Amino acid sequence: MTSTTSIFSPVEADLQLLTENLKNLVGARHPILYAAADHLFGAGGKRIRPAIVLLLSRATMPNQEITPRHRRLAEITEMIHTASLVHDDVVDESELRRGVPTVHKRFGNRVAVLAGDFLFAQSSWYLASLDNLEVVKLLSEVIMDMAAGEIQQGMNRFDTSLSLEAYLEKSYYKTASLIANSAKSVGILSDLSAEASASLYQYGRQIGLAFQIVDDIFDFTGTTSALGKPAGSDLKSGILTAPVLFALEEVPYLETLIEREFAQEGDLDQALALIANSSGIDRSRALAADLAKQAVAHLEVLTPSPEHQALIDLADYALSRLY
Ligand code: IPE
Ligand code: IPE
Ligand code: MG
Ligand code: MG
Repeated sequence: MTSTTSIFSPVEADLQLLTENLKNLVGARHPILYAAADHLFGAGGKRIRPAIVLLLSRATMPNQEITPRHRRLAEITEMIHTASLVHDDVVDESELRRGVPTVHKRFGNRVAVLAGDFLFAQSSWYLASLDNLEVVKLLSEVIMDMAAGEIQQGMNRFDTSLSLEAYLEKSYYKTASLIANSAKSVGILSDLSAEASASLYQYGRQIGLAFQIVDDIFDFTGTTSALGKPAGSDLKSGILTAPVLFALEEVPYLETLIEREFAQEGDLDQALALIANSSGIDRSRALAADLAKQAVAHLEVLTPSPEHQALIDLADYALSRLY
């Protein structure tokens, strides 16, 4: 299996600088906010979003150094993502993130809500200071999308009539919107044509959806220690993802178990077994692979470079994590 480190090698130095900057950017205001943010930034994470922004930045600026604005965009993208994780872990009552206790587990709900707010507010401030209205509009819409996605997901818990389209729409709001719009923003900062920027948006959108489906598969197949966050929690809390939606088409009895919210002893284990024995996981893999392939096709607007190749490899990497 390829590691992210080797794929990200064209921007490895950039990512190191980014990590240092992120810690400094959130500093200052209040020790407890600093401690909360530093806790998560320090724990790392895969940094897929800033890596995509930096790889696209270098790929769209051949023979030139990328600008401080490109770097700032990558930082803002990771800041928005991390803010959403802090709040998501409160909503999901999740105890582990990036292999360390979640912010609310360590500092309490009050601090986690405030620290998430602070990170969102701070990312808006850095966003405004990019001085590019189009980029400001794109990324503020992302913040709305993420909240809308979480709300949609919350409203649809245990609803077995959820369609695959509705699931994909929610996944766009929750996950793909940030990657798509930050990719498009790179196009704007690099002065690409509107068509080329739209292709970068499509790359981000499709890879973001593929990535979310892969993450949803892991919730069934992964282990807590490998993921650095709890596995097996989506179905239990009524979040119906691709593997479940596909399984529901084959196993009608799943509907009964889900609709009664696993109220009877053994319901959840039975549901998990039914899903494992269905073609739900395989069909989800196929869907993710198809989306990743579509993503790569949109990269044709870029001239070949090591960064361009890394963006292609990233699509394979997202899927290879499944095997
Ligand atoms: C977690 O994102 C939330 C999802 C969209 C699945 P990542 O898997 O990128 O989390 P980190 O940043 O590596 O911790
Ligand atoms: C993570 O969502 C937060 C966003 C994508 C906004 P999930 O709840 O689906 O992901 P994990 O499993 O906690 O990382
Ligand atoms: Mg969660
Ligand atoms: Mg969640």
